[in-house]
Amino acid sequence: MERVISGIRPTGNLHLGNYFGAVKSFVKMQDEYDCMFFIADWHSLTTHPKPENIRRSAKTILAEYLACGIDPEKAPIYIQSDVKQVLELYLYFNMNAYLGELERVTSFKEKVRKQPDNVNAGLLTYPTLMAADILMHKADKVPVGKDQEQNMEMARLFARRFNRIYEVEYFKEPQSFHYTAEAVKVPGLDGSGKMGKSEGNCIYLCDDEATIRKKVMRAVTDAGPTEPNQEKPEPIKNLFTFLELVSGKEAYDYYNEQYNTMQIRYGDLKKQLAADINAFCAPIREKIQTYSADDEYLQRVARLGAERASESAEKTLREVRQIIGFR
Ligand code: AMP
Ligand code: TRP
Repeated sequence: MERVISGIRPTGNLHLGNYFGAVKSFVKMQDEYDCMFFIADWHSLTTHPKPENIRRSAKTILAEYLACGIDPEKAPIYIQSDVKQVLELYLYFNMNAYLGELERVTSFKEKVRKQPDNVNAGLLTYPTLMAADILMHKADKVPVGKDQEQNMEMARLFARRFNRIYEVEYFKEPQSFHYTAEAVKVPGLDGSGKMGKSEGNCIYLCDDEATIRKKVMRAVTDAGPTEPNQEKPEPIKNLFTFLELVSGKEAYDYYNEQYNTMQIRYGDLKKQLAADINAFCAPIREKIQTYSADDEYLQRVARLGAERASESAEKTLREVRQIIGFR
């Protein structure tokens, strides 16, 4: 069975964008692939989070992944910092990673521009740590969005380079996995193209009913259509994308008809949307609360995940040490 690995930086709660863009398909993939999911807490150190935030945010993602339906028996979930072998592989890859190529990575250049006072070596070597995450488990496929494409190319480059330097056929090149049939870009309700944490326009899976209602009712709209069957401007299109995601075809068709015949009342649409988003989130929200309150279970899941990941990692590292000439 092909191995799939996915990492997420623990930077807050999961939102609907994370769910419909990624996690929903992870739940499917766990039945079709040999999946591993991990929480990239070492990667998150590049921004110098507070110790209490590191502990809390790893736990948060763990509880939310479980609430979404990832089954730790089928697919181990582990915390990156529980599996130390990745550090050793990170070091080996760093020895063959060149300053020039690391400096040319777009996301690094962006960080240099955005946070010139914190251009640390961890940021520079982010792609080698990510390559180690992936190659340590000999992953075949890595589900990633477009923004991670360059990091995936680097992972393939480091795999090839290792093979060339040591004259082996050891690492295979991991492929980016675009589950396009499933993936949707979830828009923001502020009229912007994308729901995202840094955009500050998220509906979180853990949001309560009142919060969801408030966020939906505040969604940006316009004065309404001015002619029948006109094309919808961005903010309105976004509302309809949401209808499609959470309300189903019938509701979508109804409001679409209302729009096309210029009878639409955005207030009604928003009320329906708020109710449907809440209906969608409610069972997940309840599970998040249950899992979050059960530290013992979360620890058990993380321990099981770490054991299975360590096994796979140690096998790779034993072989890599031998190839490199240690032991
Ligand atoms: P982030 O929390 O932004 O680091 O996102 C983690 C992953 O969630 C991304 O790699 C995407 O696969 C997915 N994701 C985040 N926001 C969205 C969105 N608005 N629409 C679709 N997918 C998203
Ligand atoms: N860089 C990824 C992100 O920001 C997170 C990540 C770290 C990752 N290591 C990984 C993703 C390994 C997939 C595989 O979203």
